[in-house]
This record gives sequence, C-alpha cells and structure tokens, in this order.
Amino acid sequence: MDFSFMHKYYQFYIDGTVITLLLSFFGVLCGVVLGVFLALMKLSRNSMLKLLASAYIELVRGTPLLVQLYIVYYGLPKLLGWDFADLTLGIVAVSLNSAAYVAEIIRAGIQSVDKGQMEAARSLGMPHRTAMTYIIIPQAIKNILPALGNEFIVLIKESAIVSVVGIHDLMYKADTVRGNTYRPFAPLLVAAAIYFTIIFGLSKLLAYVEGRMRTGDSS
Ligand code: ARG
Repeated sequence: MDFSFMHKYYQFYIDGTVITLLLSFFGVLCGVVLGVFLALMKLSRNSMLKLLASAYIELVRGTPLLVQLYIVYYGLPKLLGWDFADLTLGIVAVSLNSAAYVAEIIRAGIQSVDKGQMEAARSLGMPHRTAMTYIIIPQAIKNILPALGNEFIVLIKESAIVSVVGIHDLMYKADTVRGNTYRPFAPLLVAAAIYFTIIFGLSKLLAYVEGRMRTGDSS
C-alpha cells in the first residue's frame, strides 16, 4: 500500500486531529457541567425538577446523535437568529448529548455509595449537606471519574459524525484527502490509525489512574 500522499497531506491530519480533540474535550467539559445539574435535579425531592431531568435524559438517549446534530446545526442559528461558528455548533450538539450520559454516570456514582455511609454520618449528628460533601461525594468521585474518562473516549469516536455537516474534524479531513488524491481507501486507514493511537493511549492512561485510585481502598 502506498502512503506517499502523506508527504503532501500530513498537515490535514494534524489539523483534523486538533479539531476532533477540541470537540471531544469541550464536549465532555460542558457535558459535565450540564450533567451535574441534571443529576442533581434527578436526585432532588422536587418532582417537577425530577421529571424535567428525566425527560431530557430519556429524549437525548432515545434519539440518534446524528439527528440531534442536525437539529442543533440547522435549528439553533435559525431559532436565535445568530451566526455561529461551525465548531461551536458541533460542540453544542456533542455537549447536549453527552450531558444526558454524564448525568446518569453521576447519579449512578452517587447512588452506588452504600446507604450505611449516610446513615452512619447522620447518626453522628452530621447534617445531610455536610455528610454529602465530606462522606458521600468523595467516595462517589472514585466511581465517577473513570466513567467520565470513558465518556471522553466515547466522544472522540462519536464526534466523527460532525463531519457530515462539514465540520473539519479528523474524519472530514480524511475524506478531503480521499477526494484530493483519488485514493478512496488509504487515507481512511491513516485516520483509523490516528483514532486508535489516541484512544488506546487514553484508555491505558485511564486504567493506570483507576489503579492508583484503588490503592487507598482496603476492601
Ligand atoms: N451513536 C450514539 C447515538 O447515535 C451516540 C451515543 C453518544 N454516547 C455518549 N456516551 N455520549 O445515539
């Protein structure tokens, strides 16, 4: 197989990789901020907030990311009457999607802490909020962080969908190289190799961090 086109086109791949990473990084970041609110709403005692959060989460998880991307990409500028940069719209779509998944990660992380922990704290006279802050959340973080790392990995792969609306991510750039070189196959292999390298590296890093976080556990 001939990869000589890389001499001319390597910069395309670098640019595309940067956009893919930006998209996934800001996707999880905004997703986490929104996801925390959604999780808190879902855990709250206010049934209205609960219902709203559940509805959002179910709607987002029950429709394809591609459909959500189209809705945001074509709908948002129309709705608000503003001209957004393509990348911004991509990040908004990915964040709105990720928030629903992150909300469930956080909710599950908090609920997986044994209820005896809260009971013990309360029986010592700790107010609910203090127990939450100092007893429950620190333990929940151990469940939540690895799952959030995983969400970042998922987004790196899933974000390839933004190439269909013309956002210049890695996948889009690989397609451009295919067109420019009249080589339908080899440029895709390069993109696959880049995706794989990033994701393999990240998942090894995550496994390491996860191992380190467990060293403090005696049980
Ligand atoms: N392919 C999935 C869909 O179309 C994307 C799910 C995104 N997942 C995530 N953890 N953010 O719905």
